[in-house]
Amino acid sequence: MKILITGGSGFIGSNFVRFALESRSDTSLVNLDALTYSGNPESLRDIEERFPERYRFVHGDIRDVDQMTSLIAEADIVIHMAAESHVDRSIIDGRPFIETNVLGTQCLLDALRQADPDNNKRLVHVSTDEVYGDLPLDRPDLLFTETTPYSPSSPYSASKASSDHLVRAAIHTFGINASITNCSNNFGPYQFPEKVIPLFVTNLLQGMKVPLYGDGRNVRDWLHVIDHCEAVLLVAEQGKAGETYNIGGNNERSNLELTHAILDIMGHDESMIEYVEDRKGHDRRYAIDASKIQRDLGWEPSRSAWPEALEATCNWYRDNTAWWQRIRSGEYRQYYEQQYARKQDGV
Ligand SMILES: NC(=O)c1ccc[n+]([C@@H]2O[C@H](COP(=O)([O-])OP(=O)(O)OC[C@H]3O[C@@H](n4cnc5c(N)ncnc54)[C@H](O)[C@@H]3O)[C@@H](O)[C@H]2O)c1
Repeated sequence: MKILITGGSGFIGSNFVRFALESRSDTSLVNLDALTYSGNPESLRDIEERFPERYRFVHGDIRDVDQMTSLIAEADIVIHMAAESHVDRSIIDGRPFIETNVLGTQCLLDALRQADPDNNKRLVHVSTDEVYGDLPLDRPDLLFTETTPYSPSSPYSASKASSDHLVRAAIHTFGINASITNCSNNFGPYQFPEKVIPLFVTNLLQGMKVPLYGDGRNVRDWLHVIDHCEAVLLVAEQGKAGETYNIGGNNERSNLELTHAILDIMGHDESMIEYVEDRKGHDRRYAIDASKIQRDLGWEPSRSAWPEALEATCNWYRDNTAWWQRIRSGEYRQYYEQQYARKQDGV
């Protein structure tokens, strides 16, 4: 099986590359990534060494239709993860989100149709539960299902919602063999330290306070990244064309609860919390009904249970200080420049 993944040098993508190569010995994988600020080739350095025959990195942009067409022509399965992914950045400047998440997805769909006019190849479009908007805090009975109407509230989620609609339109109009996944918040190793869990853990490791938005009552459903990767691979292998699958950890926590859990694990108390002005338009609660993927594909979030999974994640950042310190200092860009920019010059 030949997989093409877009955005495989990011948080979820790099975990997916590792999981797919380790769990499927018959699989080879090409990772197309533009290496934006959140793409870190250092996350896959060991994979390049361990799987030289089955793993290949290609530096490129999903908006390059010609390059995407030739890469898709060589693949059986396309996993589309490349995106601008940080809500706070989208509030500061939404345009890169439209360019990558909306225009980029349309370019990928154009390339898919050129490479595969008979719709033999399988596409999984990886999206977020944020497309559904938010839920009230006082209605714990309400969950997002696959038929919940879209109601995105940030430029990030609006751009992801648009990309989902484009994929759905291509399924309807051209009959492409695609499924969409909408997943809750992920946690685990190799997450860029601007996102809440690695930000808080790495701040504490440096003796700094953790910035908590508003009153901290906002609720998120937390899923371990490898549970997400397993679900995406199952959808690629066994999911039905045209179907959407919600993926969640059944693990709702308020941000305050998350913060206290991290403080406990890291041996600090609440004096390390710095309450900061709330995020503009901050969604109150996300909660996923994942019964469809559990019923149809037999998937379970078996690695997401707290406190063990959260503690293992905090320990990973404690044990891998070089990985995140090189991001915080900007040194991680040097690896990219040495490894890939030189190759482009033919050296
Ligand atoms: N992180 C989460 O909790 C979460 C939850 C649900 C869904 N998702 C979705 O999963 C996907 C991956 O998220 P993540 O957290 O790993 O993001 P990330 O920001 O860590 O990684 C994104 C990757 O995409 C690459 N990229 C960006 N623009 C590109 C372009 N134009 N061409 C090629 N590559 C490009 C980046 O270099 C980076 O490697 C996204 O589509 C996101 O919307 C994330």
